[in-house]
Amino acid sequence: MSDTASSLERDLERLLDQERFPPPPEFVESAEVTELEQVDDHEAFWADKAGALDWAQPWEQVLDWSNPPFAKWFVGGKLNVAYNCVDRHVEAGLGDRVAFHWRGEEGEERDVTYADLHRDVQRFANVLKDHGIETGDIVGIFLPMIPEVVVAMLACARIGAPHNVVFGGFSPESVKERMEVSNAKALITVDGARRKGKTAAVKAAVDEVMEGMPSVKTVFVVRSTGAETPMTEGRDVWVDEAMEAAAADCPAEPFDAEHPLFILYSSGSTAAPKGILHTSGGYLTGVAYTHKLVFDLKPESDVYWCTADVGWITGHSYIVYGPLANGTTSVMYEGAPDYPDKNAWWDVGEKTGTTIFYTAPTAIRAAMKWGPEYAEKHDLSKLRLLGSVGEPINPKAWLWYHKVIGGERCPIVDTWWQTETGHIMISPLPGVTETKPGSATQPLPGIDARVLTDDGEDAGTAQGFLTLNRPWPGMLRTLFGDDERFVETYWKKYGKETYFVGDAARKDEDGYFWVIGRVDDVLNVSGHRMSTAEIESAIVSHEKVAEAAVIGQPDEDSGQSVTAFVTLGGSQADGDDDTVNEIREHVAKKIGKLARPKRIIWADDLPKTRSGKIMRRLLRDIAEGKELGDVTTLRDPDVMQQLETKVKERQSADEE
Ligand code: WTA
Repeated sequence: MSDTASSLERDLERLLDQERFPPPPEFVESAEVTELEQVDDHEAFWADKAGALDWAQPWEQVLDWSNPPFAKWFVGGKLNVAYNCVDRHVEAGLGDRVAFHWRGEEGEERDVTYADLHRDVQRFANVLKDHGIETGDIVGIFLPMIPEVVVAMLACARIGAPHNVVFGGFSPESVKERMEVSNAKALITVDGARRKGKTAAVKAAVDEVMEGMPSVKTVFVVRSTGAETPMTEGRDVWVDEAMEAAAADCPAEPFDAEHPLFILYSSGSTAAPKGILHTSGGYLTGVAYTHKLVFDLKPESDVYWCTADVGWITGHSYIVYGPLANGTTSVMYEGAPDYPDKNAWWDVGEKTGTTIFYTAPTAIRAAMKWGPEYAEKHDLSKLRLLGSVGEPINPKAWLWYHKVIGGERCPIVDTWWQTETGHIMISPLPGVTETKPGSATQPLPGIDARVLTDDGEDAGTAQGFLTLNRPWPGMLRTLFGDDERFVETYWKKYGKETYFVGDAARKDEDGYFWVIGRVDDVLNVSGHRMSTAEIESAIVSHEKVAEAAVIGQPDEDSGQSVTAFVTLGGSQADGDDDTVNEIREHVAKKIGKLARPKRIIWADDLPKTRSGKIMRRLLRDIAEGKELGDVTTLRDPDVMQQLETKVKERQSADEE
């Protein structure tokens, strides 16, 4: 170990003994909020926050909760989300302010101002209208991290066409499924996307699944890399050409506060993804307020960088809607943290003068593994606040982040929330909260979170189920086209007034929340949410496979990793390496590379109950080498012994 490495180890050891981190005095001195707001009147509180937006027509009622769990916020109010994110800043004389310092992986630079957005969003909105997109039509978006993705989302918002963004890492088959189930009328995609020096021909790949998307009448293609792009006459439209031909002005028509803003598909406990539906007034109120509060935002001086992809909720809420509603200058980076080399992020951070940095624990753990020398080579002294999201952050990674990236002077906000909640729910306030590494600390003002026992009693300081006990403005309104599943998934366990989160948590003696992880069959791999059922169904659709069961295993790098127990069809023996690769590639094709199993274990049979239900709990025990839980309900207890042998064989093969 080198001297610097061992001195870092010593520093981390020292920090490990320090259990609490009060906000640094220099930070508090200039913090926007230094006292926790007391909320006596919940509705008045949120009405006050909604007042930060520009309403074309004021609301008559703050909250209508007469038909739980279907909430309506700011009833009767009207606003235009795109107007709030763009026009009003330009009207206030801030047109020259940079909205995005966009940076590409080869060092390309493009600064997009609010005036640029104003011009482009209007033209793009007119392009949509010119091609028959009307208010209420669903528009799919499958784009990489380029400024056009923001323009496309805002163009949809401007004309009241809910967008359905699919993360760029998903496969065209996943795009197809999401377009089909949302009955999307159009899809906005790109000629090609860059990743680590290579270009993927996105439009050409999407074309292969077009037949499965009968509702999609128009494909809008953004020109980005110049990749070879087949165009179908009468269906496909080059966005740049159409924008040139379109009118410059597109009025921002006000829509109802409850007008749907977007659908975002997320994984649940079955193979079918859930179309989480968010609406306009409440959602924008929630993201704008929490973005300002949690990140201590000073829009005139901060350079804010959220490293998420726009295709996830974090991108929707904290790259696009929250920051833009607040007139923020953000960094948007199209690339990986380790391309062209492991300096990539810190180069961007230094050159853009990033002051607020928001990322995922998995990225911090990767940086930690690569070593501090990359970050240390850069001047990151402008950084004043760090954030974490997507999964629990282990104290060691927290401390490393605090020490190496934050130079021990930046508070860390560990923000807990979900696609469903729309915005941050539990988080420290950087100028107020004493933090404890690994805890998301306490609910934000206006939010009522609790930990309950299985029977709905207060769990005290014991582990229990996390719940949210009062409606909040950014909450999902339903699952698209499936009210029943909405009620069943979130509002059945504890009744229609208590939202069941799906996370296990513990509240300590100081009232701090420690989120432990999912309690359903949802995996969290590198902060990406996936369902075991979705991956199983992809594996089973491979011709050689008869049956599969997927579990998540703890993983040092990615938080969790995917392990699949697979039974091959017919009288086939165990698969070989080629079969492993085939199955992994098949999953990549069906869902996306992110869902590929890290480990495949061949199984002659799977542990099942007498009614044929696979007992994943036992598979988890066996994979972890734990004492087996109750096996009395198994149809065939012998299965377990065979599996144990297989797991051991696999482990010794892995070790070699
Ligand atoms: C997990 C991402 C611990 C949690 C915004 C939640 C977290 C799921 C944290 C939602 C955190 C998110 N600490 N766990 N700070 N943030 N999670 O919908 O299990 O992609 O239910 O939203 O991620 O994932 P989703």
